[in-house]
Amino acid sequence: MKRAVCPGSFDPITFGHLDIIARASSLFDEVVVAVLVNRTKKSLFTVDERIDMIREVTTKYPNVVVDSWSGLLVDYCKTNQIPIIVKGLRAVTDFDYELQMSQINLQLQNVETLFMSTAPAHSFLSSSLVKEVASYGGDVSSYVPAVLLERLKARLAENIGLDN
Ligand code: PNS
Repeated sequence: MKRAVCPGSFDPITFGHLDIIARASSLFDEVVVAVLVNRTKKSLFTVDERIDMIREVTTKYPNVVVDSWSGLLVDYCKTNQIPIIVKGLRAVTDFDYELQMSQINLQLQNVETLFMSTAPAHSFLSSSLVKEVASYGGDVSSYVPAVLLERLKARLAENIGLDN
């Protein structure tokens, strides 16, 4: 069985992530979407909330499963015997860092990285931009699945309330 992992913060998952996950699911027998816990990054949603949201928007892909991991991505890959990481590349600005990560992951545990070009419609999209636009009341319905919009709005409202 050919398996791959699509890793990320997914805070929250966007149509850009979904596009990569959907395309990866047509290439592999199983795709694990792994929510990586980054202790240095403040997230809007908890890991469990992110897992729930990803599960909700990937139900139509039966070979997609969702998991989380705190630690090195390559250790997740080794522990779960997944030989391939799938990443989306949006633009050349992504390239330097992604190349470094793919090289260190190859050296650390011999895990390969497969880059897929992001669909042009999503090339500017990131979870950070979505949060910024939504926090000012902007329309993010073209960027995030409809079922997540209310949760995003509510969480941002709670957070803005806390900041004041
Ligand atoms: O969605 P993101 O935040 O761009 O995803 C980045 C992520 C989580 C895939 C990356 O930071 C990662 O793999 N983190 C786990 C720690 C790790 O293995 N780092 C690479 C080697 S130093």
